[in-house]
Amino acid sequence: MNDYRQWVAALRDTRDLPDEALRTLLETDAADELLREAADAVRRERYGDAVYVRGLIEFTNYCKNDCYYCGIRHGNRNASRYRLELDDILSCCREGYALGFRTFVLQGGEDPYYTDDKICAIVSSIRDRYPDCAITLSIGEKPRESYQAYFDAGANRYLLRHETATDSHYRRLHPASMDPENRRRCLFDLKDIGYQVGAGIMVGSPYQTTDCLIRDLRFLQELSPDMIGIGPFLTHADTPFRDQPNGSLTLTLRLLSILRLMFPYVLLPATTALGTIHPQGREMGLRAGANVVMPNLSPVTVRKLYELYDNKICTGEEAAQCRGCLERRVQAAGYQIVTDIGNARRGTPS
Ligand code: SAM
Ligand code: FES
Repeated sequence: MNDYRQWVAALRDTRDLPDEALRTLLETDAADELLREAADAVRRERYGDAVYVRGLIEFTNYCKNDCYYCGIRHGNRNASRYRLELDDILSCCREGYALGFRTFVLQGGEDPYYTDDKICAIVSSIRDRYPDCAITLSIGEKPRESYQAYFDAGANRYLLRHETATDSHYRRLHPASMDPENRRRCLFDLKDIGYQVGAGIMVGSPYQTTDCLIRDLRFLQELSPDMIGIGPFLTHADTPFRDQPNGSLTLTLRLLSILRLMFPYVLLPATTALGTIHPQGREMGLRAGANVVMPNLSPVTVRKLYELYDNKICTGEEAAQCRGCLERRVQAAGYQIVTDIGNARRGTPS
């Protein structure tokens, strides 16, 4: 126990630990309470009890890629596909703005229908109407010039989970056409262009080991992202990983606390996957160090179709219900939703 106390204090004070101490913390449940308490203290010091909201608009479930874990992969013939047009997206934003959202996250599969010109038109239409909002894109790997064009059109944040920093692991999660090097190139290009960047992983993805997690932490130290999105891997029945076990709630919470201690400033969402693996998962995530929730703003007619994994929650609720539900959950966990756009580098209060 003494070692654990020392390591947790060192992690808090130096934001780092040697690999072997990290390995022990990742593999034991004996330090979980210490990690959680320290992480909550650090987030309160930086951010008080503020929890930031981001309105998620899942605008296409077409995808040219074939990631083995993902329910909207190209090879899933059972998925019914949809796309939202500009007007649909703008009405999601209008509804979201009225509900107090000041960040819109446009997420989708890698869908060539949305050419760079189309994405730029969507981004600039939102930017014109909502100059006070942050626009986040999460549409996968693109050439640097495309990222630059979206940025020039008014996008200022980009979410692209690195998925795993271990190349051999990456190759077991993706077909040979996908290259881990390119994914990392994307993240560094995005940062270089001036985006606030989010990276992250699925916890408990098939073949993940503690060594993979340690490499993920080291990669995140190198990238120093503004946001880190993690959630448990959850199986989808129409993917090659249909027989793989789900990731673990406990390990996800442990990692959230470790991330809060290593990256005190970072925006850390309590994800939908966390709420899917356990009915109180997001509340537990907030108590473990998370400080962002992402209610769904997509039209209810398409919600169920953006099915990355089985039993995904929040697919039947209207945006306003989702917003209200999350507000109550955040309060029940002991925190408050704020509508401010929230900037990781500044933090509020500093
Ligand atoms: N196409 C964009 C991309 O690749 O970044 C954004 C959409 S992608 C579906 C968003 C994230 O969902 C992925 O980065 C992945 O980590 C997560 N995801 C996909 N399938 C999942 C699953 N079965 N369980 C948990 N998370 C999953
Ligand atoms: Fe969507 Fe609860 S957060 S219904």
